Amino acid sequence: MKKYWQILRKYKGSLLISPLLVLVAVLCETVQPMYMAKIVDDGVMQRDLSVITEVGTYMVLVSIAGLLVTILNVYISSRASIGFGTDLRERLFNKIQQLSFFDIDRFSSASLITRLTNDITKIQQLIMMSMRMMLRAPLLLVMAIFFVVRINTDMALVLLAAIPVLGISVYLILRKGFPLFMKVQQKVDALNEVVRENLINIRVVKSFVREDFETVKFREKSEDLRDMIIRASNIVVSIFPVMQLVMNISIIAILWVGGHKVMIGDLKVGELISFVNYLAQVLMALMFLSMIVMNFARASASSERILEVLNTEPSLSNTQKGLLDTHKILSGKVEFKDVSFRYSGGDTDVLKDINFKVSPGETIAVVGATGAAKSSMVQLIPRLYDATSGEIRIDDVPVKDYLLDELHSRIGMVLQKNELFTGTIADNLRWGKEDATMDEIIEACKAAQAHDFIMSFTDGYDTMLGRGGVNVSGGQKQRICIARALLRKPKILILDDSTSAVDTETELKIRENLNMMLHDTTVFIITQRINTMQSADRVIVLEDGSIDAIGIPDELMKTSVVYQEIYNSQIILF
Ligand SMILES: Nc1ncnc2c1ncn2[C@@H]1O[C@H](COP(=O)(O)OP(=O)(O)O)[C@@H](O)[C@H]1O
Ligand SMILES: [Mg+2]
Repeated sequence: MKKYWQILRKYKGSLLISPLLVLVAVLCETVQPMYMAKIVDDGVMQRDLSVITEVGTYMVLVSIAGLLVTILNVYISSRASIGFGTDLRERLFNKIQQLSFFDIDRFSSASLITRLTNDITKIQQLIMMSMRMMLRAPLLLVMAIFFVVRINTDMALVLLAAIPVLGISVYLILRKGFPLFMKVQQKVDALNEVVRENLINIRVVKSFVREDFETVKFREKSEDLRDMIIRASNIVVSIFPVMQLVMNISIIAILWVGGHKVMIGDLKVGELISFVNYLAQVLMALMFLSMIVMNFARASASSERILEVLNTEPSLSNTQKGLLDTHKILSGKVEFKDVSFRYSGGDTDVLKDINFKVSPGETIAVVGATGAAKSSMVQLIPRLYDATSGEIRIDDVPVKDYLLDELHSRIGMVLQKNELFTGTIADNLRWGKEDATMDEIIEACKAAQAHDFIMSFTDGYDTMLGRGGVNVSGGQKQRICIARALLRKPKILILDDSTSAVDTETELKIRENLNMMLHDTTVFIITQRINTMQSADRVIVLEDGSIDAIGIPDELMKTSVVYQEIYNSQIILF
């Protein structure tokens, strides 16, 4: 709540004016039946047209005043609630930027997207609705009762009896409805997940002709969501007939008691009419109230989901120690000591007991079958994830004792699934180093064998990528990503299968360039290619998350069965 108030404070003015406007609007509204009673009793019954004209004019003027005030409030409440939604969204987005891979895995990115969009909209709507109706409902109730009591106390009792009955039925219905709204949100998440997966992998889906399968999956989730919404709405919808019933019974009671009073001269006909009008207003007020309570229930489910993210302490942050001793990575020595790792939510260790030491400037090939945990292992070096147990040391200092900035600026990493962003090629490269000069950029691109194809585009380095720009091939993308990592002149360079889409000849050139440019950089290179393995200083062979063997390539040919298998499978292929 405190978090919301920090944002809402900006709209203090609107929050103060809005209730005043609502008060004026309610006064304009509740005074109408009084006028009407006057027209009937003093005008119509007394056959006096001038009363009708005079009071009628008041009625119209008061209505117009009420209308103007309401329009003003609509404007003010829209501005404040939309502004609030925008600010909250920005806050949430900034928070998500700070989260680690670990945290994002835990929430799942689909769910984060729903929270950023759907959930925030719910809260925004609630604020808008509250500013328009929250005060309106109780005020309307109070004013209507006030006028009714003034007309006739006995009659007011009939009205007062109807209110708790209505209130209780609304409460009972909502108590059943709230858990359903939580479930609706979960189903929306599940649907988003399917859509997101499908869109990310749309090429695979199409190339394997799996559209039908995907469509079925989508339909299932979609129908799930539909059923849940229907169940939730059924409950909401059942409120209205119940209210109608109570309303009709109340009207009959009023006409019965009131009719009796009119006959014995205790009540005037106009007053009886105004009474029925007030009853309608009270019912309106209760409906508004129930709508708000309902929206409140929905929004509070959304709010919980938003606060859950806002209150998450990013799991990877600078440690106390890291902030104090500002170590620098100078040589690029890497050591894994008894390292085990499991993903959040996982039930087995993906990496088990990993131990090895790498000297500065060494090139280490990491090989193993898909799923052997090669990517998982190297991601621990720049602390994209933290080891579950054990320790990773760089230059004899645990990685946790470095500032994250230091780690990320000294370690160049090309992820297996690397993406470029919308923008020019130069913009994308400058992600590696914001203030890179054109000369540095060209040097890095030449080393990554990207310069020539970039220059073949008419706009060269200013070529737009992404939507509305050119589409580069997978191999070209990988080379831009390598150049981006090289720009940092890293002490440690990690290439996760980053040349898989580049032809062997180009890859050889890239490797030669790397050797020249980065002779004292420690390089981890995850690869499937035997040539690359053979040219490394040493090879780590991973199998099922454990180190099967580690050593120089020629030695492994003799000692490691797994290595021999990888080698032989490639010889047969080529
Ligand atoms: N973000 C993740 N969350 C949960 N499990 C994961 C995640 N990434 C990978 N895994 C699992 O960890 C294991 C090792 O994966 P990975 O390191 O990608 O292997 P490799 O790179 O050798 O193919 C696999 O079983 C994979 O399913
Ligand atoms: Mg991998």
